[in-house]
Amino acid sequence: MTSPYDEHHTAESGPGHEWWRSAVIYQIYPRSFTDASGNGVGDLAGATARLPELRELGIDAIWLSPFMTSPQKDAGYDVADYCDVDPIFGTLADFDTLLAQAHAHGIRIIVDLVPNHSSDQHPWFQEALNSVPGSPARNRYIFRDGTGEQGEHPPNNWQSIFGGAAWTRVREADGSPGQWYLHLFDSSQPDFDWSNEEVKAEFRRILRFWLDRGVDGFRVDVAHGLVKDQDLPNYSPDEATASMGGEAEPAPYFEQPAVHDVYRDWRTVLEEYDGDRALCGEAWVSSVEKMALWVRPDEMHQTFNFEYLLAPWDAAELRSIITRSIAAFAEVGAPGTWVLSNHDVVRHATRLSLQEDNPQGSGIGPDFPGVPSREAALPRAQAATALMLALPGSAYLYQGEELGLDEVHDLPAQARQDPTWFRTQGQKYGRDGCRVPLPWEADQPAFGFSATGRSWLPQPERWREAARDLQRQDETSPLQLYRKLLRLRAQYSLGGGTLDWEPGYPDGVVAFRNGRVLVLANVSAAAVLLPSEARTLISSRPLSGDHVPADTTVWLELPGKS
Ligand code: NOJ
Repeated sequence: MTSPYDEHHTAESGPGHEWWRSAVIYQIYPRSFTDASGNGVGDLAGATARLPELRELGIDAIWLSPFMTSPQKDAGYDVADYCDVDPIFGTLADFDTLLAQAHAHGIRIIVDLVPNHSSDQHPWFQEALNSVPGSPARNRYIFRDGTGEQGEHPPNNWQSIFGGAAWTRVREADGSPGQWYLHLFDSSQPDFDWSNEEVKAEFRRILRFWLDRGVDGFRVDVAHGLVKDQDLPNYSPDEATASMGGEAEPAPYFEQPAVHDVYRDWRTVLEEYDGDRALCGEAWVSSVEKMALWVRPDEMHQTFNFEYLLAPWDAAELRSIITRSIAAFAEVGAPGTWVLSNHDVVRHATRLSLQEDNPQGSGIGPDFPGVPSREAALPRAQAATALMLALPGSAYLYQGEELGLDEVHDLPAQARQDPTWFRTQGQKYGRDGCRVPLPWEADQPAFGFSATGRSWLPQPERWREAARDLQRQDETSPLQLYRKLLRLRAQYSLGGGTLDWEPGYPDGVVAFRNGRVLVLANVSAAAVLLPSEARTLISSRPLSGDHVPADTTVWLELPGKS
């Protein structure tokens, strides 16, 4: 009997196949996807309504960003109840419907789990605030006495990733200034103490809660950050690279060896369940060799390849990161997990054409020099996507990239909502520009995002022409390109294939074979001659005669090779 997963998808499933090794996983950032309730924030019912369109696109699975109960201080990455749905997104029943319908369409769902920190509104944190220093309630988080005569200075110099100090001082029950608690992100996001057995047990319970409901796995937020150096040594990050992590010499709050014990433990929880459930880590580390540590056989199944995401549009750099990634992941038996965009980075349509550096998380604003138009940036973005989707392994897509959406760098200041913007007093724009609600129908209010026309971030007028309904009718649109790429990727089993570099092309061309498919990504400025013996399967933009233009990726079928 065939399962709904076998029908048209690119991931190979069934006996002997683990779907996550080759799956194309589409990130739904629910607040910006589709708003069924009309309040201007997307929701679960909205996501359910759009499943046929995702099936048509040809994805295998969805990563659903947080929808749990939350005061939304960091767009849901501040969770107050890990086992319920926030009313702005719907109810648990809405979640169950989404999951059941996705499964009926042959689409798996992994949910976002945020274990590094909770919301300050979580009952445990409230209990900690109402308890005395040293109490079991305080010990679930990282409370410390301050330094200085009156404890008026924070315990150390750590800075929040969103800006400002990583410590906030509380008032004790008697009204006196009290201890400080650690928050690597916003002050509304206190960090758990992962040496605490109660914390470990609680997250095992949370994993089982969602696994029992039938989820196919988890994307694990800040997977490199749960365990801190117990001595809490002072640390000043390198300003140029500091963000979510990824410095050559890791911060004392990232990449601590004991963090791996957490995932070994979780792996055993997942293995209690049938159906091939997967863990995917969000670990910002400095090299693919380090990334591979997260996907050793008894740990997670996938980890985002952020070094690939951060690579510039440069043939030598791309060849190097692809080679090193495949080697490093093969060493531990894990698949590559390629990604170009998500809700924390400048959309790759824009990013790959920027001339100036823009560290992750900083974002770009109206004053950023030389931001390309959507039209100008599209060819390179589509070439990058066509390259990524030809690589063996799993690939993540971020909602809206299939429409070729660009970064909304020109959001008005008063619309911005990212805590980064507030905590840096506007020095960093943050991530709102990649989170603007999607355009679905050109002639509907809020371009079909919400029937009431409300939208929690304003959509640019230029997105009217990017609306999905127009792109469905246009054979040359980014949407049609993504659909065709995904279909061919499935047909030629590229996700489950192997990569062999193809010699004989100029340095500016990333050229490789994956099974019967020859991939040529022209990263140079000069057009490149097509090989005469191959049949063109698809090109990310029209070829010029028998040449591959600049910023173009072509997939060719080689005769007689397998
Ligand atoms: C990583 C998430 O992707 C990001 O959006 C969030 O702000 C931080 N972790 C904190 O949870």
